[in-house]
Amino acid sequence: PRLFGGLVLPASADFHVHLRDGAMLEAVAGTIKSGGVDTVFVMPNLVPPITTVEHALAYKEAIARYTDATLLMSLYLHPSITPDTIRQAKKAGLFGVKSYPAGVTTNSASGVVDYEQFYPLFKAMEEEDLVLNLHGEAPPAQDITVLNAEEAFLPTLLDLHRRFPKLRIVLEHCTTAAAIEAVKKCGPNVVGTITAHHLFLIIDDWAGDPINFCKPVAKLPTDRVALLQAATSGNPKFFLGTDSAPHPLSAKKGGLGIHEAGKCAAGVFTQPYATQLVLEAFEDAVTKGVVEKSRLSQVVLEGFLGGFGRKFYQIDHDGEKIRILAKDEKVISMLSVGGEAGANSTTRDVVIPFRRDSPIYSLEWI
Ligand code: NCD
Ligand code: DOR
Ligand code: ZN
Ligand code: ZN
Repeated sequence: PRLFGGLVLPASADFHVHLRDGAMLEAVAGTIKSGGVDTVFVMPNLVPPITTVEHALAYKEAIARYTDATLLMSLYLHPSITPDTIRQAKKAGLFGVKSYPAGVTTNSASGVVDYEQFYPLFKAMEEEDLVLNLHGEAPPAQDITVLNAEEAFLPTLLDLHRRFPKLRIVLEHCTTAAAIEAVKKCGPNVVGTITAHHLFLIIDDWAGDPINFCKPVAKLPTDRVALLQAATSGNPKFFLGTDSAPHPLSAKKGGLGIHEAGKCAAGVFTQPYATQLVLEAFEDAVTKGVVEKSRLSQVVLEGFLGGFGRKFYQIDHDGEKIRILAKDEKVISMLSVGGEAGANSTTRDVVIPFRRDSPIYSLEWI
């Protein structure tokens, strides 16, 4: 069944993407529009991370060489950032500050250990109305695993919200029913993003499959259902942030000496099909009786795919539209990075997209 064939929507907005730099940026930036997206919130976890306004603006310029999508830029929460940086950031038109707990994910070595040291910064962000983007996983410790790290982080979210009630906070990439409940429990200044891949995946899908491995990891079937229900609820607290996170296949395969002492890189690449994947997940949920078809109104779809996020970030939509086509295409097998096929293969790598080779909705810009 092709539930959404012919559907016309405002272009989607994706409030959490990793575009990287260099050859990877060149390879992935052009795929933003393929996913029906005209606006992206760009994560700052480059190496070194983006901790100055100058760096953020230079990065924005670098990205703009490859795409005309609207770019919402962010800083990486770091001890070198001062309240004055926050004021400069607001003036320069940056949108948020992303906090990564130390050691949790890609390039988070310089992440946060203790939030208290940042209270003066959060106060400045509250005053300037700059958004705090939380990677909500408790840092490595005894009794913390990839399965309970998100839930263990939730008291920190509630505490920050209590201390800074006017601070707008995004709990990024919610993966558990508990996270959804925590976000609902907070006031309207606290929202949550949901990725496309977490609408599909459970633990068994990434255990043993590096292409589906990301942080936070996908959790239980009941968690997946909670995400689908939140995403189709029409509650403006929940909107799309794909966390599309390209890694070269060589880093995904792991192996000694290839990536961080042989570990598999965390991240799922969904950028070229951001909108299409969400619709596939919704359609599958309807087919399986997880979500009622009547829930998927135009208002709900438009809200989750961009409207709710635009409202939260206080940005306008320029009116670009997309049409979903009933005709399937096939997810590409791979995306080449750094040169063409047949070129010097030592400098060439590939990114494997989520659900490679599977049938998927096609879309057109209208
Ligand atoms: C680290 C750094 O610069 O200290 N980068 C980062 O946290 N983004 C280095 C690293 O983790 O590779
Ligand atoms: O899986 C992930 N990959 N999660 C993150 O938070 C970071 C991202 C990345 O940068 O690769
Ligand atoms: Zn994150
Ligand atoms: Zn991310």
